[in-house]
Amino acid sequence: MTINEILNVREKLLADLDAVIGAEELEAFKLAHLTRKGTIAAMFDDLRSVSKEEKPLAGKELNLLRQSVEARFADKEQSLGTSKRTDAHRIDLTMPARTVPVSSPGHEHPLMKTLNEMISIFERMGFGVEYGPEIEDDEHNFGKLNFPADHPARDMQDTFFVKPSAGWKGTESAPLLLRTHTSPVQIRLMEKQKPPIRSIMPGRVYRNEAASARSAVAFFQLEGLVIDKGVTMADLKGVLLSFARQFFGSDAKIRLRPSFFPFTEPSAEVDVSCYICGGKGCRVCKNSGWLEILGSGMVHPNVLSNSGIDPEIYTGYAFGLGIDRTAMMRYGVSDIRDFFENDYRFLEQF
Ligand code: DAH
Repeated sequence: MTINEILNVREKLLADLDAVIGAEELEAFKLAHLTRKGTIAAMFDDLRSVSKEEKPLAGKELNLLRQSVEARFADKEQSLGTSKRTDAHRIDLTMPARTVPVSSPGHEHPLMKTLNEMISIFERMGFGVEYGPEIEDDEHNFGKLNFPADHPARDMQDTFFVKPSAGWKGTESAPLLLRTHTSPVQIRLMEKQKPPIRSIMPGRVYRNEAASARSAVAFFQLEGLVIDKGVTMADLKGVLLSFARQFFGSDAKIRLRPSFFPFTEPSAEVDVSCYICGGKGCRVCKNSGWLEILGSGMVHPNVLSNSGIDPEIYTGYAFGLGIDRTAMMRYGVSDIRDFFENDYRFLEQF
């Protein structure tokens, strides 16, 4: 057997296959050529007689021959409708559906469930959703938010700094860091978009502190920012009350307490009436009837001008809320670390 003979047989078999017009003829072809006693198997046996030098190439050509004849055979089977596979592949639309067992597959993580619900509440009130980087520069995380140079939050104790290295933008004097809050996304948004602005900005933030039941090194926040002509603190209060009613229940109340943040003036801490006892006082609210949910205030004029917005023309409010903390309150989770350990026994309960 020579290489040429192999090529000739291949051509002939393919031509024979093309000429087949019926199922019986096709079956005869199979018996003659594709079974263990057929032509092709015999040619493989014959490889033994091929010279040492030609054997590798002959083997390769023979394999090609078999593959191409088998492929053409399958095509022919399909076109003649004799393939056994055809029926198996037909879809039976009347077959009963296979249902998914309720107990088995995964579901949303309680944190994402909380976040997604918050997002849809704010979306219904006309807010867009924005995201920013988790690795930030000092200017966005602190400087433009009106933090003084010696503010304690800028300390190594509270912030994770990213070591400057080749290819990174950070330097000793303007370091990169893991953002400690979502407020820098406010600055990024104001830098790229002129008012009116009405957005929420969810994301992960990092704090360099000892992990405990109440604080984690990484957690989630949701920032809100509204900038326009004539925006007042009454607008802030209205939006937060509406959010509290939709999230905690229609009889939820809120109260604002004076507070301080470098980036807002005036600033307020916001509490919601305890959803467990309705304000009468219980273990969850430590008998006060109120739960602290967020920080807020009117955007400081310095923050507006640092971001290229004229504070003589525009005013706005901002707020920042801890997603983990809110989820803990809502689901009665007492240790924040439970959210990150992925213990199936914990996750299963949501
Ligand atoms: N960034 C603050 C924090 O992490 C939370 C905050 C307070 C955000 C007041 C705000 C705000 O936008 O107005 O503690």
